Amino acid sequence: MTQLEPHIFFNSNIDSPDDWRKALATQFANFSFSVDGDVSRPESVDIALIWTIPDGGLERFTNLRAVLSLGAGISQIEIGRLPKNVPLTRLVDPSLARSMVDYAKAAVYRYHRRFHIFERQGRDSNWKFIPPTFTSATSVGILGLGVLGREVALQLRQEGFKVLGWSRTPKQLDGVETYTGRSGLATVVAGVNIVINILPLTDETRHILSRELFRQFADGSCLINMGRGAHVVEADLLDAIDAGKIEAATLDVASVEPLPRGHRFWNHPSILITPHVAGISDPTTAVLTVAANIRKAMAGEQLLQQVDLQRGY
Ligand SMILES: NC(=O)c1ccc[n+]([C@@H]2O[C@H](COP(=O)([O-])OP(=O)(O)OC[C@H]3O[C@@H](n4cnc5c(N)ncnc54)[C@H](OP(=O)(O)O)[C@@H]3O)[C@@H](O)[C@H]2O)c1
Repeated sequence: MTQLEPHIFFNSNIDSPDDWRKALATQFANFSFSVDGDVSRPESVDIALIWTIPDGGLERFTNLRAVLSLGAGISQIEIGRLPKNVPLTRLVDPSLARSMVDYAKAAVYRYHRRFHIFERQGRDSNWKFIPPTFTSATSVGILGLGVLGREVALQLRQEGFKVLGWSRTPKQLDGVETYTGRSGLATVVAGVNIVINILPLTDETRHILSRELFRQFADGSCLINMGRGAHVVEADLLDAIDAGKIEAATLDVASVEPLPRGHRFWNHPSILITPHVAGISDPTTAVLTVAANIRKAMAGEQLLQQVDLQRGY
């Protein structure tokens, strides 16, 4: 328990302010906690703990020391609306990584054990035996080997899957074949049965999952998108599925969320939509990282998980 008295501004339409207030109370004996629309003395706000920037912006917080994103990704935060020279961090904690790994395993096993086909057969009362295989017969390619992608790669490897990975800079991961660059990307997507996207959304990765890349996928492969909706050119994915190039897709994210009623992804027999649930942070554990950053910001120290705004992640 710290004696600091930080003033924390909170804004999120998906995270519970009450849960976060309670979690922060386990770390700070005294602190102020303001939710958007209810901020007295904006000049006293030290920290913005946010999912998105509120309509009124953050400029009124003239003494702000740090902006802490409530998400591991920061694409929901408009960088151009951040106050100048105030550091931005993202939030990755073990509970989030665990949750991403669980989701990836569930989605991979569904394809590996052909449940997606049995679901379809079930609708037609069709008892058709498809011989199962062991995990060593299925290969998985992971786009993005950061804090989350690396954990997913290692855990799938441990399950016995063959795992390939792709990142911007070279990586060494036990038992995982790793690649970089455009040719490395082609090697990964052409060489696996299942592609999992866990990239951050940047100028370089926006619309990376497009017609051009789908052409390089192995025939009949499956896609799992756990990154951001804007990584995918949605019309190109539908074309690739309808042409049989891609057998099926699991999409946790969409370019417009919630996915609008009437969107062609809904009710598509080869697409499973989940409502952005792959990675959930539990405030009771994530607060440790947040509190560490609050202490560092108050002390003027380098923050953990600080975003490189030039690089975009
Ligand atoms: N669906 C959900 O619920 C959910 C939850 C949490 C996070 N996410 C998504 O997951 C993303 C990744 O999170 P993280 O914590 O693992 O991020 P991270 O630690 O920043 O890692 C990002 C990875 O992507 C690679 N990368 C970035 N730009 C690239 C490029 N142009 N070409 C090739 N590789 C590139 C990086 O390469 P280097 O290693 O060489 O830098 C790194 O391996 C988040 O940004 C967010 O979009 C989704």
